[in-house]
Amino acid sequence: MKVSVKVPATTANLGPGFDCLGLALPVYNEVTVEETVMPGSGIEINIIDENNMYDVLSIPKDENNIAYKAIELLYNFIGQSVSDIKITIKTNIPVARGLGSSASVIVGGLVAANELLGKPADNAVILSIASEVEGHPDNVTPAIYGGFCISSIEDDGSVSFSKIDWPEEWKLTVIIPDYELDTSISRSVLPESISVKDAAFNVRKCAMLVDAVYKQDSEQLKKCLKDKLHQPYREKLIKGFKELNELLENKEDILGCVISGAGPSILVISKNDGFEKVQNEVKNIFDDFNVECDIRTFDVENQGTIVI
Ligand code: HSE
Repeated sequence: MKVSVKVPATTANLGPGFDCLGLALPVYNEVTVEETVMPGSGIEINIIDENNMYDVLSIPKDENNIAYKAIELLYNFIGQSVSDIKITIKTNIPVARGLGSSASVIVGGLVAANELLGKPADNAVILSIASEVEGHPDNVTPAIYGGFCISSIEDDGSVSFSKIDWPEEWKLTVIIPDYELDTSISRSVLPESISVKDAAFNVRKCAMLVDAVYKQDSEQLKKCLKDKLHQPYREKLIKGFKELNELLENKEDILGCVISGAGPSILVISKNDGFEKVQNEVKNIFDDFNVECDIRTFDVENQGTIVI
């Protein structure tokens, strides 16, 4: 027996919501989990890059694979251990680009294995295991539920979350550069502590951002996509980010520009066709840095993970 699931890409942080806010995007990885026919055959992990675009060779195909690690925790949760299992991951989500490719395979592995086992775990358990493996909940929550999610890991490892409707007219453009940035590197440049002044800035912006989404208020959102907790430190790793912010400041129908997750992709939020009007100027910035970019505009993905 085998089960396949489809899991969306995600963009986390949205500026001030570090490790807390995330949005799902309509690009999908497919994860299939099956019991192997031959007992004793152990673990088999296959990774298929459907577009032949990404460096999937470096992804572990043994016990160190994150989908496997997540599945192992699920088995432990029900008092069993994983023996013979085959995991197939078809990747469409760009790898190491800040678009939640790791969250998608963690969630995909968990949801598929849970189905295979007869659904012993509910979504709360899946979310908690996924957050534990990923280290933060901001990608895995929208990967499971779709849409715009606010999430928080509690002291006992459980995750509280809320999903708020994302306005249809707010389009999401991701600028995906041709280079990778490992999340661990992007987290390593963050300081151990920040000033109360900067922390207070982020608390204000993040609270007002959530309220802007709730009220679907574009003018309010524009004032909230600013951050002093991670972006100032990561900016040096992300070519063109500073210049893009300068270009987009005060452009009509552009609501803001933030680092997507840990980068290096950049997320631009615009109203309707706002991004199209500036697309050529945006391309020029990256040309100047000799960075090839794949630029894609999406509506929010609202479905989350589905069994196929
Ligand atoms: N919130 C995380 C970070 C997202 O910014 O490091 C990484 O996927």
